[in-house]
Amino acid sequence: MNDAIITATISYIRDLFHGCFGGHDAAHSLRVYRNALRIAEGEPDCDMEIVALAALLHDADDHKLFHTENNANARSFLTAQKVAPEKIERICEAINTVSFSQNRGKRPETLEGKIVQDADRLDALGAIGVARTFAYGGEHGRSLDESVAHFHEKLLLLKDELNTETARKLAEPRHAFLEQFLEEYEKESGE
Ligand code: NI
Repeated sequence: MNDAIITATISYIRDLFHGCFGGHDAAHSLRVYRNALRIAEGEPDCDMEIVALAALLHDADDHKLFHTENNANARSFLTAQKVAPEKIERICEAINTVSFSQNRGKRPETLEGKIVQDADRLDALGAIGVARTFAYGGEHGRSLDESVAHFHEKLLLLKDELNTETARKLAEPRHAFLEQFLEEYEKESGE
């Protein structure tokens, strides 16, 4: 894999998400990238460069943050980096299959899409998942109890919707932590 393009993409992401804090920011993109590399180790048939770039850029056109169409941020960055058009299509295809709300119940068709989707979902679990849920809830004027409802509606379901064996293994302790957190939250709320 070409290291120069990874370095350039990381600095692009840092600039793009400048001033963003909470659920979707540069730190989230970097964690998803690292999760994706770990998952990809268990999937020898995947194209590492597609996985890495799709993971780093998966929120570059997130509709909650940017008013772009057709992956415009990712496309113009990759075009400027002289990435082949055919490769850009594959990266955008993987990116577009990641979203939970848009793809509920649907699995990505490509292996690279499956890996990046799993990597993104892992970042919604565990202590990071707890922190992100409350950060997002605070931003959107939700009470703590309303944020907690999100664990039941979405986060606790994620472990059964993962695509790869490696992600299922990585999800286990994170899922267990969510359950433990909820148990303690409910206990303290009722005291
Ligand atoms: Ni994401």
